[in-house]
Amino acid sequence: MSIFVLMNLPKKLTIKLKSRKETNCLRSLKAPASLVDFSSNDYLGFAKSEEIFDKAHQLLVDRNIKQNGATGSRLLSGNHLLNTEVEALLSDFHQTQSATIFNSGYDANIGFFSAVPQRGDVILYDEFIHASIRDGIQLSNAKSFKFKHNSLNSLDEILKRVQYDNSDIYVVTEAVFSMDGDSPDLVQFSKICQKNKAFLIVDEAHAVGVFGKNGVGIVQELDLQHHVFARIITFGKGLGCHGAAILGSNDLQQYLVNFARSFIYTTALSPHSLATINRVYDILNVGSDGSDFGWNCIENSQEKLQKNIQFFNSEIEKTDLKNIFIESNSAIHCCVIAGNEKVKLISEQLQEKGFDVRAILSPTVKENQERLRFCLHRYNSKEEISEVLQLLTTFTKKVF
Ligand SMILES: Cc1ncc(COP(=O)(O)O)c(C=O)c1O
Repeated sequence: MSIFVLMNLPKKLTIKLKSRKETNCLRSLKAPASLVDFSSNDYLGFAKSEEIFDKAHQLLVDRNIKQNGATGSRLLSGNHLLNTEVEALLSDFHQTQSATIFNSGYDANIGFFSAVPQRGDVILYDEFIHASIRDGIQLSNAKSFKFKHNSLNSLDEILKRVQYDNSDIYVVTEAVFSMDGDSPDLVQFSKICQKNKAFLIVDEAHAVGVFGKNGVGIVQELDLQHHVFARIITFGKGLGCHGAAILGSNDLQQYLVNFARSFIYTTALSPHSLATINRVYDILNVGSDGSDFGWNCIENSQEKLQKNIQFFNSEIEKTDLKNIFIESNSAIHCCVIAGNEKVKLISEQLQEKGFDVRAILSPTVKENQERLRFCLHRYNSKEEISEVLQLLTTFTKKVF
């Protein structure tokens, strides 16, 4: 192997890395190990489905689409017909006027929040909102204020203080919080927003595929789609593909296509990615009639996942761990173990025993709120769930 001599890192960056090491929160990339999966976002097992892979490939073959890359931005050469086709599918399935595909949920959020709220407007966001929304807000010229996590009172209080003349108010929350697994009372959030003429935006990244009939997500499960200004759905989590879309009115789509920089200045998704999303939505659409998809049938997969979520919760009830777990009915379950060192140690011990459970360290979460995050899947067995929780009980006893 050749050793290339390259320029040193600037000193300021070296100091920052050193400080990360000292506070036990240096991030590093690891090769995937074949452990029992309690960490991926592949809640329904779609990412590794051979049937979906084959069907996506077949769609490309049937249409004679022999193209590896998109070749450009959607506004230039990259607007493959599959984009508009998938967007039509999404609009129909999610009961909205338009769906605008972005390359990722990160891109969708920075695109939306940097472009939509204007100078003089106000963005109110949950204090635990995802980093992609925070980054979008930072790029925006609007003022922003956070409200307490899932707190209607806190939102209501701030709304009373920020009613300025001529300003639009945007309220953003998540249908399922990525680092907590819990959900806001969206019915009440929507009512407060209606009362205050605020525009509600809901990020459904961890809800689509998991919640609602055929995986439509929580907004539609609650029949709130007409009261939500925009929904961000992502394909890389429960749906096992890649990419994202913003759901909203036709006017919103026209605005995003003209002003969302993360939509405009980037190469579009490849035809293969679009074909995969197309086939996955076919499965969602087919629903209970999808016998030809075997275990992939959405109802079947959702039901298995829901059973595992219930089983996980019932197992926690039997242990002393209940107090440290954040209450959740989603696929994400978090157990707070304060301190980067402690939480890392336990995650390493679980990994040594064959279970892929990851530690979420500060600064990703607040100091003293470090946690282990268990992602549950359709394919986890009851034995795996019981065993990992027994090991957790043993290991936590040693550190508390
Ligand atoms: C709530 C939320 N929104 C958006 C994203 C970003 O989505 P993507 O992974 O498609 O960039 C994530 C992923 O971590 C998320 O958890």
